[in-house]
Amino acid sequence: MLPQLDEACMKNLDHYRYIVESSPDCVQEVDVGGRITSINQSGCVLLQLDSPDEIIGRVWIALWPKSSHHRLELALKAAFVGQPSQFTAMCPTLKGEERWWFVAISPALDAEGRPDSALVVSRDVTERLRVDEALETINQSLQAKLTVVNAAREQGIQRESMLQQRLDIAAAAQALAEQLSHQAQKNEAIGQLVAGIAHDFNNMLQTIIGGLSAVLDQSDRLAHDQRRFLGYSMEGARHAVILAKRLMAFVRVHRFQSEAVELQAVVTDIIDFASHSLGSGIHLKLEDTCERFPTLADRHGIEQAVMNLCINARDACGGQGDIVISFGHLGVDEDGASSLREAGVYVTLSVADRGTGMDAETRERLFEPYFTTKTAGQGTGLGLAQIYGFMRQSGGFVDVHTELGAGTTMTLAFPLNVERELQRTADACLAS
Ligand SMILES: Nc1ncnc2c1ncn2[C@@H]1O[C@H](COP(=O)(O)OP(=O)(O)OP(=O)(O)O)[C@@H](O)[C@H]1O
Ligand SMILES: [Mg+2]
Repeated sequence: MLPQLDEACMKNLDHYRYIVESSPDCVQEVDVGGRITSINQSGCVLLQLDSPDEIIGRVWIALWPKSSHHRLELALKAAFVGQPSQFTAMCPTLKGEERWWFVAISPALDAEGRPDSALVVSRDVTERLRVDEALETINQSLQAKLTVVNAAREQGIQRESMLQQRLDIAAAAQALAEQLSHQAQKNEAIGQLVAGIAHDFNNMLQTIIGGLSAVLDQSDRLAHDQRRFLGYSMEGARHAVILAKRLMAFVRVHRFQSEAVELQAVVTDIIDFASHSLGSGIHLKLEDTCERFPTLADRHGIEQAVMNLCINARDACGGQGDIVISFGHLGVDEDGASSLREAGVYVTLSVADRGTGMDAETRERLFEPYFTTKTAGQGTGLGLAQIYGFMRQSGGFVDVHTELGAGTTMTLAFPLNVERELQRTADACLAS
């Protein structure tokens, strides 16, 4: 019976040897003393051995870098009390090439079922880890790029929504300007009618006044009561003349009419009137320059805009201080251009004060029609909306520079009237 059993055992042994030898992994057996007792063919190739003898009998842990020793000792100890374990670590081949291994250690049992050696199966995972590492690097750089793209997108959205907000305000301001202009057209028809009547009425009153004066000139021929009543009549007629004149002034309406104007000349014409209207606490200064600032715009619109800006500046200064009006040139290149400011050359008119300045919310909303920070009766919130609409009609724009507590400069930029400028240069050349 015994030889038969031996034969069966031998068969089994051959079978298991065949399995171990055909494994692509490095399979080693380690005895209780921690020495390697066998290694398969794949193991020799993977560890770059010329023969298994190079490693058989050597202490298994000693082949590994010192930093892994503690972990390996624990794993071996565990195997000898029947507990399998796994780990991944680096160990160079015998020729010194760095390799990473996924190691599975399990107990091998004797005939009585006690662990008498440890079976160490090591798989070379160097390539896989390199691929993982490369993928991680690619992933990190993609993440970084994604963060940049997301930030840019976020910024883009913010810029877009700011631009949209500005476009909305521009549309509202322009609609207001058009509405006022449309209203002005209607008023103009009524105004002409009223002005005509007032004018004729005034003429008739002149006739009446002429007649009454002639009678009053011969007052020595009149009784006291007659003189008194004639005096009342004269006074009434004179009041009626004032009323007729007021009526004519009141109905004098205006429509947007573009004409060739020079900014400094327009402002110089109204500076005395403006200065007087702003009150004695305000010192209105006009920066004088020998340059010219020609544009095509509505003269009356410019006058009104300057008055509105000066009144805002006066209010921001509490009625006391300097307001400075200055002029300049401004170029907008393609990079700085947008749907609200076309590229080109502009002439500018600035009104600067050292008043309260504006906070962020006011700065953001100041062109909105009906936006005001003033108390009821003090402001309607239409001044700047009207200016904004007027500047759009003129093909220009408004720039605001403000600092809370330090003051504000509002700049109106009108397109340069190139023709006028060329004409002036040509005249100057001819004269010299
Ligand atoms: N120079 C300035 N300094 C500080 N704040 C200003 C200045 N100009 C305008 N503002 C602010 O902008 C708001 C809007 O101005 P806007 O001229 O449109 O209306 P308003 O002056 O309030 O009223 P209205 O001009 O219709 O009488 C003002 O209420 C004020 O808060
Ligand atoms: Mg105002």
